[in-house]
Amino acid sequence: MKKLTVSVCVFTAFLAMAEKEQLPNRLFPETDQQKAERLAWWRHDRFGMFIHFGMYAVAGRHEWVKSREGIPDEVYDAKYFPRFNPDLYDARQWARTAKAAGMRYAVLTAKHHEGFCMWDTATTDYKITKTAFKRDVVREFLDAFRAEGLKVGLYFSVIDWHHPDYTIDRPHPKFRQISGNKKQALEKLNAGRDMNRYRAYMFAQVKELLTNYGKLDILWFDFTPKGEFGKSWRDWNAVELLKMTKQYQPHVIIDNRLDLMDTDDGWDFVTPEQFKVQDWPTVRGKRVPWETCQTFSGSWGYYRDETTWKSVPQLIELLSETVSHGGNLILNVGPTARGEFDGRATERLAGLAKWMHVNARSIYGCTEAPKGFKAPNGSVLTYNPETKCLYIHLFDYPMGFLPLEFFDRVEYAQFLHDGSELQFKGPSSHHPQTGEVKPVSGLRLPILKPDVAVPVVECFLKK
Ligand code: GLC
Repeated sequence: MKKLTVSVCVFTAFLAMAEKEQLPNRLFPETDQQKAERLAWWRHDRFGMFIHFGMYAVAGRHEWVKSREGIPDEVYDAKYFPRFNPDLYDARQWARTAKAAGMRYAVLTAKHHEGFCMWDTATTDYKITKTAFKRDVVREFLDAFRAEGLKVGLYFSVIDWHHPDYTIDRPHPKFRQISGNKKQALEKLNAGRDMNRYRAYMFAQVKELLTNYGKLDILWFDFTPKGEFGKSWRDWNAVELLKMTKQYQPHVIIDNRLDLMDTDDGWDFVTPEQFKVQDWPTVRGKRVPWETCQTFSGSWGYYRDETTWKSVPQLIELLSETVSHGGNLILNVGPTARGEFDGRATERLAGLAKWMHVNARSIYGCTEAPKGFKAPNGSVLTYNPETKCLYIHLFDYPMGFLPLEFFDRVEYAQFLHDGSELQFKGPSSHHPQTGEVKPVSGLRLPILKPDVAVPVVECFLKK
C-alpha cells in the first residue's frame, strides 16, 4: 500500500513537472519596461465598471442559474431565448452613468458561461441579433463608452455551457445532473464531444471580437476550473489564444484566468475576486499589477431577490483600500432583462459619483504610501508619487483631532472635498490631572463630520 502511495506521488510530481516544462517562463519578447508602459493608463485610472449582461438576466437569479439549477439546454433556451428583449438598453446612458461615477474604463461580457453571444457573430445563431431585440449589444456598448472617453474592454468566457463539443466539467450544468460515479458518467457524457471543434469555434469568436470592433483596451478571459473534473490552459490552447490576441491588439491588457500563471507574461494582472485584499499581491515573491473584481450584491448577473447590497460608504472604502495597496477596482453592474441598471445600482453609482466628484484626486494616479507613513487609526492612505500628495481616507471620523505620526513631513493640509485648510496642532502639554499621555501632533478637524461619505485629507508633503 505504502509503495503504491509513493509511486502515485512520484507519478503526480512527474506529471506536474512535465506540464510545467512545456510552458516557458516567457512567451513574448516584451520587456518589463514595455509592459509597464502598456499598463500605465490602467494603473493610473484605478477604477472601472464591469457589466455582466446576458440572457441570464431574464431568469433574474444569478448568471450561473443554468449550472446552479442544472437546467437542460432545451428548457433554458425555450424559456429565455424568446423572452430576451432588452428594449430599454441605452449604452450612452450606461456610459454617462459610469463616467459620472468616476469609472475610467468598462468591461462588458461579450459571452458568459451560458454561451450566449451579445454580438453579431457569424459562428452561431445563439446570439443577440437573432432575438427579438436584433441589435448588436457589444457594438453599441463600445461606441457609446468610447464616445464618453472611457477605455473599453470585453469579457469572454472560455467556458461554454451551450456548445455541443465543450466537454462536461465540474461547473457545467450537466455535471450537476450526474448521480453515482462521476468519472464513468463523464466518460459517457463526453464520448461524442470534441474540444478541437470547440476550440476552433472559440478562436473564431475571439478573432471576430479582436478584428471587427476596433481598438480594445482590455480582454478579460474567464476562467479555468482547475482540479478534479476541471480544465487547464491546454484545453483552451491558451498560449495560441494569447498569441492571436496580441497579434491583432498588441496593446491590449489581459487578465490571468487562462491558467498561465506559471509563465511571467501569459497574464498582465491578477484578479482577486469578492474579498478585501489586505496586502499588495505577489507572484513568486514579486509585487504584481492587480485588479479586484467586486459586485454590489454578491451576484454578477441581475439578481432580483438578492438583498445583500453594499452601502455607498462600504463601496468607497473598498475603492480607497484597494488603491492604498496599489490595486484597481472593477465594480460590477448586472443590468435587468430590459437593459437598464436597476434602482439599487443607480443609487450606489450616484453615491460614488458624488464622492468621486470631489475626491477623485485621491484615487487617480495614486498608489500605496511610501514606507514610513503610518495611517492613523480608522483610516487608509493613498499617495500620488507625481504630485507628492498623501491622502488620508477617514473611514472613522475622529473627534476634533487627527493625530499624525508623520506630522513633521507635512507642509500643508486641507480637506479634499472643499479645499479648506486644516490647521496644525502641536503637542499639547497636558494638565497634571491627565496622567501620563504621550504628546502627539496632528491636525485640528471640525467636530462635525462634513457631508461627505468618506472625508479625505489632502497632505502636501515637504519636498
Ligand atoms: C467568476 C464567475 C463569474 C463572474 C466572474 C467575474 O469566475 O464564474 O460568473 O463572471 O467570476 O470575475
